Amino acid sequence: MHAENALTATAHHVAIVMDGNGRWAQKRLLPRLAGHKRGVDALRRCVALCGERGVRVLTVFAFSSENWNRPEEEVNGLMSLMANALTKEVASLQEHGVRLYCVGERAGLSAKVCEGLEQAQQATAGNSRLILNVCFNYGGRWDIAQAARRLCAEGKPITEETLGRAMALAHVPDPDLLIRTGGELRLSNFLLWQAAYAELFFTPTLWPDFDAADLDAALASFAQRQRRFGKTDEQLRSRHDAASSSEERENV
Ligand code: IPE
Ligand code: IPE
Ligand code: MG
Repeated sequence: MHAENALTATAHHVAIVMDGNGRWAQKRLLPRLAGHKRGVDALRRCVALCGERGVRVLTVFAFSSENWNRPEEEVNGLMSLMANALTKEVASLQEHGVRLYCVGERAGLSAKVCEGLEQAQQATAGNSRLILNVCFNYGGRWDIAQAARRLCAEGKPITEETLGRAMALAHVPDPDLLIRTGGELRLSNFLLWQAAYAELFFTPTLWPDFDAADLDAALASFAQRQRRFGKTDEQLRSRHDAASSSEERENV
């Protein structure tokens, strides 16, 4: 059988809303920032696992356009955590063949964070096993608006194709599977355009606890989905039958 058939497909691009750090910490009577620190550990584990599972692109939501509304102390803590992680994690990214892209609005970020982003991107630019997009100061609405603004400024027509190419994730195909940890059933302004046909998976697991079993549960659920992209079940089955019978002929 072919590995890409409808029931055994591997998700090429996995996107994750890494939610639940604050609750993880609060349950242990720790400051919220302790949860965010454990969240970085969970991301490091998840990157390694995705590489092992054959995922080619991982896109994670680390800080939303709306997260500026949190208490100043938490926002500052998240900014320092990001700046530190960008320097500390480069060795681990290199080891796993990960190419990092930092996606989101640069305006509003400190010079230290911006330099960290650029340096980490450059340092990993030669890797190709897994692409890791870290969405930081990112919002789906910001992305659509910045793409439209750019096209207008360049006097280009606005079509689905030109908009898609002007958006922040134009270097990767759309996500196949979108996971949200922490139990909330919403997108919170993540990948509004790109997730049009993503399969959704929600888990109550808090992000710092997200482990191999959780990732495998999400990938197994994805493998059971029938992605119809507007077509009927019958259309997909007949295409699948035709593909399998031509494969059988080839194997004789
Ligand atoms: C997600 O965890 C991380 C960020 C939004 C930066 P939260 O901090 O939202 O955790 P909860 O939802 O309060 O538990
Ligand atoms: C979404 O989580 C943003 C990130 C995980 C970075 P939030 O915790 O900010 O989402 P809401 O506020 O519950 O919708
Ligand atoms: Mg949250």
